[in-house]
Amino acid sequence: MADLPPDLAFGSFDENGPWTIDHDELIWLDAVPALRAHAHTRLPSLVSAPRWPPLRRAFTVVRVLVIALAKWWFTGRRRGRSESYADLSRRLRLAAERLGPTYIKLGQIISSGEGIFPPELVAEFAKCRDQVPPETFRAVCSVIEADLGRPLTEVFAHVESRPIAAASIAQVHPARLRDGTDVVVKVQRPAVAELVHLDLAVMAWLAPKLVGRIPVAALANPPALVEVFAHTITEELEFRIEGANMLDVAGVFAELDQRQFVVPRPHPELVTERVLVMERLTGFRFDDLDSYDVHGVDTHEIVRTGMVGFMEGALIHGVFHGDLHGGNLYVRPDGRTALLDFGITGRMSQPKRLAFVRLLIAGTMNDVTGQLAALRDLGALPEDTDIEAVARDLGLYDDVIDPTTMEPDELVHELQTVVKALLAYGARMPKELMLFVKNLVFLDGAIARLAPDLDLFAEIAYVAGYFASTHGERLAREVGMDPTVYEYDEDGIRAAFGVDTGVETMTYRQLQERRQIIRSRLRARA
Ligand SMILES: Nc1ncnc2c1ncn2[C@@H]1O[C@H](COP(=O)(O)OP(=O)(O)O)[C@@H](O)[C@H]1O
Ligand SMILES: [Mg+2]
Repeated sequence: MADLPPDLAFGSFDENGPWTIDHDELIWLDAVPALRAHAHTRLPSLVSAPRWPPLRRAFTVVRVLVIALAKWWFTGRRRGRSESYADLSRRLRLAAERLGPTYIKLGQIISSGEGIFPPELVAEFAKCRDQVPPETFRAVCSVIEADLGRPLTEVFAHVESRPIAAASIAQVHPARLRDGTDVVVKVQRPAVAELVHLDLAVMAWLAPKLVGRIPVAALANPPALVEVFAHTITEELEFRIEGANMLDVAGVFAELDQRQFVVPRPHPELVTERVLVMERLTGFRFDDLDSYDVHGVDTHEIVRTGMVGFMEGALIHGVFHGDLHGGNLYVRPDGRTALLDFGITGRMSQPKRLAFVRLLIAGTMNDVTGQLAALRDLGALPEDTDIEAVARDLGLYDDVIDPTTMEPDELVHELQTVVKALLAYGARMPKELMLFVKNLVFLDGAIARLAPDLDLFAEIAYVAGYFASTHGERLAREVGMDPTVYEYDEDGIRAAFGVDTGVETMTYRQLQERRQIIRSRLRARA
């Protein structure tokens, strides 16, 4: 084998990189711990609810949305159902682009939710992944020059004026360094920080009011949502933190010997707050089914690697790519996945990671009490919750009743009872799981797109088996469990999907049909 670059030993990088990583040579890395600490210190002031929201911004948001809706109401709505949806979706996407990064990010989440959100909306918001209108090249150059403190020509032989892509907070241009090295330059949009801080203030003002007025909103935990958003966006706006995240995620993959993912190398010197020079990676879009055929890449393998890769980092090291969506990855013709955009990197503290491990072990063992206790330790339930009582109240020890066999009235009643009980216990979405759930929305959509006939039961069994054989001893030791006791129990998984023991397989298509039945019954009652 030809000489491999030495940095592959500690990073899941490409074999043919433009340079190799040597931690001692990264001149921007030393500043990162202080930058992280600073981002953390600023958090309380960013998320404390102001007495008044920034009125001008709040007004702009309402105005742009109302105009979009009004235009649709008077024109598109009158056409056929699908055309009307498409028109509304387009107007909402344009509104999101006008309103800037916060709303574009929301659009990216919606675009991930194939099978969850209406198809017209998903298709339209796909443009928010990487085809947002870019800033002018002049604006881009001035950010680069200001941050590097040098004229462009002192660093680059050439910077392409047309970006490869433009997304919520940045756009990426191909470029060539003076020494001939081909790179890409990620440049932060000039006004983004200001806009984001205004939106944060609006959200911080709104979140507690939402909980006060609409009690069920408490389940989604809006204040924690605002906190997660504030934290991730503050880190995301500092590209030196992103550079460090790239190395961390690449390092976790290398340690796990998970070489199916490739991370771009950040440049040893050219990384500043708003400019990130890095290795260019290429490939095709994950939802481009033709390209899989052309290159002979197995969609099923991509889904499987995606599932394992994204769980493994979180469960074993507590570090994972926190912003999976179609714009932040390419599938390579060699079947590996190029991961991009490490602005949001999920990190779990040791106690939370272990609670998460216990949740999944208990889930695959059909241990209801264990799952609830783990959820409590993750912060979903107050610390003094009587777990046994909750399990009894929610009927978790009883046989599963398949919701698709219920009459609409029964279904609604059941749902109301559960929601009421959860609210009474003070249940809410744990902060630590929010990024994870966001990634799950993407994985769900990816399966819908790439492998609708995949048997989900078999797949979950495969992933559980992989973890048991690869990391079982270690995980069991960490949570103080006897590894020989572990036994995968299919009934727990079936229960999670709301079906009983008789059901052998569950493809994504079947799951989708079930969701459809439940939705239409709920609508029938509404
Ligand atoms: N190293 C890279 N090589 C090639 N294309 C890239 C690279 N990094 C990012 N891109 C492209 O640029 C787009 C925007 O970059 P990204 O880091 O996702 O910015 P944002 O934080 O605004 O989402 C990505 O969606 C991707 O299409
Ligand atoms: Mg991105």
